[in-house]
Amino acid sequence: MSGFALNSLSSVNDARAYTFSYRLRRLAPSVAAMAYPFLLSGFHSAVSASNGSISILRVIVAALWLCAAMAVPLVGLASAFRLTHANPSSFDLRARRLAYVTICAPPLFVLAGVALGLLHLRFNDECVWIAVWLGACLYVLLGSKAPPVITSARPISGWRVAHGVVAVLVLFFISFHLWNHILGLRGPDVHAVAMRAGRRVYRSRMIEPFLVTLMLFQVVTGIRLVWRWSSQPVDAYRVFQIGSGTYLAAFILTHLNSALVSARTVHKIETGWAWASGAPTGLIHNAWNIRLVPHYAFGVFFVLGHLASGLRGVAIAHGLSAKVANRAWATGLILSGLIAVAIMSGLCGARI
Ligand code: HEM
Repeated sequence: MSGFALNSLSSVNDARAYTFSYRLRRLAPSVAAMAYPFLLSGFHSAVSASNGSISILRVIVAALWLCAAMAVPLVGLASAFRLTHANPSSFDLRARRLAYVTICAPPLFVLAGVALGLLHLRFNDECVWIAVWLGACLYVLLGSKAPPVITSARPISGWRVAHGVVAVLVLFFISFHLWNHILGLRGPDVHAVAMRAGRRVYRSRMIEPFLVTLMLFQVVTGIRLVWRWSSQPVDAYRVFQIGSGTYLAAFILTHLNSALVSARTVHKIETGWAWASGAPTGLIHNAWNIRLVPHYAFGVFFVLGHLASGLRGVAIAHGLSAKVANRAWATGLILSGLIAVAIMSGLCGARI
């Protein structure tokens, strides 16, 4: 079995482990998450030339900052895989679960900014961010060498079926929603025509509360499944499924809070193209809006990748060979990445 397919199942719960440096190394993804806002600030400084013109060198430096910020969720995903092994201690399991949470740095940082604004708290976003991550790291460090206490080993097959069935329902909206955003490449007017048509359905009195309930249902059932699977020794395909699902839980809560609570209910802002693309400054040249770039890009990538992971599992359960299913999954991930790039290009101003 390849290293990609299955991480080492050996236990690390031996006498040598648990030195201070062993523990600190397992917090590396949280350090990356703490650096996340500063990587975005680095990008913003690089693209903000005082005379308005940006040299090639600045473009390269800006690209490096953005790549570093975009790498944070991927570091979290890779760390979650590395920390997945059999018989974890309480500390190991906490460190693994925190690695999964670091994948969510982009939506959590958006949520932090929007929530502080909604609550009229004038704290610096970065200070709150660091404080919360330090608190989470402390919680992990306080985990013991003893095996974790499993509070319930009840079967989760019912949750899995419910999560899968509701996924099919929300897929209708998500397919339209992403297609609508791809149309942004043709310009705001084309995007608006499609959105107006879609709103007649998904914003109708009957459908909108139902859609939001289904989204929240996916968050709750998804977190339940993540909690269970994250304690098991699983292969890399499952780590991706757990990681993308964790991201989506944070993304959906953040996105619904931004669109329905903050924009529509509190600030009475029209949630059209201008709102999504951060007009008039745009997503790239505004110090706050830049956080939306990784947030949206991974939102699109992970929602489609999560779907590909679910389909892979269903296909294998129905007799498709693992080799064919894995190839289809990898193709699905490549397509998800391309769709994310297409949508982000449109939101950042590219037109075809
Ligand atoms: C580039 C990525 C995305 C952008 C720019 C974006 C933007 C938007 C905008 C502008 C709205 C308001 C729609 C309206 O007023 O009619 C909205 C609503 C919404 N979005 Fe997204 N979205 C993105 C990805 C996603 C994804 C991946 C999901 C699902 C996982 C999602 C779920 C929703 C939901 C549930 C609503 C609320 C619909 C409603 O009841 O009005 N979005 N989004």
